[in-house]
Amino acid sequence: MKEYPKPYEIMELLSENLNKAYLNQTKRFEGIIQFYLTHNDNNIVCHFKITQNGVFFIKGISDSADVTVKASLYNWLDLAAGRLNPVLGVLTRKLKFSGNISFLKNFMGACKFEVNIDDFDDPVTNFEKNPQKYWRKPQKILIINASPRNERRYTYFYLQPFINGLCSGGASCEIIHLYKLKINRCTGCWHCWLSGTGNCIFDGKDDFKEVQQKYEDSDLVVFAFPLYTDGMPSALKDFWERMVSSNYPYMVKGIYKTRHPRRQKKQRAAVIFSISGFMEIENFSAVLSHFKQISHNDHLPIVAEILRPAGMYLYNNPLLYKQLNRIIEALEKAGAEVFEFGKVLKKTQKIISQKIDSIENFRQRSNFFWSEKIKEGEKTY
Ligand SMILES: Cc1cc2nc3c(=O)[nH]c(=O)nc-3n(C[C@H](O)[C@H](O)[C@H](O)COP(=O)(O)O)c2cc1C
Repeated sequence: MKEYPKPYEIMELLSENLNKAYLNQTKRFEGIIQFYLTHNDNNIVCHFKITQNGVFFIKGISDSADVTVKASLYNWLDLAAGRLNPVLGVLTRKLKFSGNISFLKNFMGACKFEVNIDDFDDPVTNFEKNPQKYWRKPQKILIINASPRNERRYTYFYLQPFINGLCSGGASCEIIHLYKLKINRCTGCWHCWLSGTGNCIFDGKDDFKEVQQKYEDSDLVVFAFPLYTDGMPSALKDFWERMVSSNYPYMVKGIYKTRHPRRQKKQRAAVIFSISGFMEIENFSAVLSHFKQISHNDHLPIVAEILRPAGMYLYNNPLLYKQLNRIIEALEKAGAEVFEFGKVLKKTQKIISQKIDSIENFRQRSNFFWSEKIKEGEKTY
């Protein structure tokens, strides 16, 4: 368990941080910065000894300090972080200095926490910003079916016409049933990042690497899944957690927030394809928002969100046969449109996600359906 850090430990950690930044640059200093700090009625008396060989943290008073800092611990940290202007700090009596203030200023100024990550950079592309404008028909399409019931039920039932439309244009298409594979959960050990390789402790022990390779090779990925507890089923979440290994640990600027650069840079887009049990379209809002974040982090523009609420109700209600047929036709059309234009036309989208019944009917008939299933002792639906 990580211990709650104490003030002296914070000062020691700061000196270690400064030491690394100091040793990374060529300028060398020699001198002592003495601290008389306060924190919650406690005094923190220590000094940093700066030599040609590094910065050393020492508790207590030095008899040859070059500069002395008197402040609260927080004010000193604000100064060190550049959040507190030193002149303002003195004028407002938050900081008191004595001795050679230039030494402190020059030393702190020289400790730059900078590293050149140009070789890893993965800048925002025009395709990401406007995938339709820069759309090229995908040559390799990967379809990830994340329904625990694989080909047996509703996600795959609705997915098939979409795949027919998507893959009839000549792309090479592969479908993976995620739940048939062994994908261990990320343990958060950071081996993939710390080793500098992207390799995972589970390499060779499960199927993830193979899926990752297929993902890296693809131009378009379809994430198909039933809505589970307002989100994605756990195997798909596990997949995304393991995908962290595809990135470098560095932080770069994305379209609207910070993200990591990828190890393999390729233009790729995604389609979200989801089926829910409930009928209100709002049920998808959490997962769409989650996917929006994931897709940004993964430099992966989402070109279509294909959402079919109440997929099971629609399939099992004979009174909705006309709607079912129209929706199946529209799903095939949507597949062809994604392939051709990198989007689903509004008209098609509307048919797919249409409201198929009144909410009262949905509740009443669903309740009847379930109660009959229980009465009949059915094992699946
Ligand atoms: C564990 C579990 C959680 C579910 N959570 C939701 C949910 O939060 N919202 C919803 O609308 N449907 C939910 N559903 C219903 C499924 O999305 C729906 O039945 C879907 O058609 C199942 O797809 P499948 O037949 O491919 O398994 C859930 C189903 C299961 C088994």
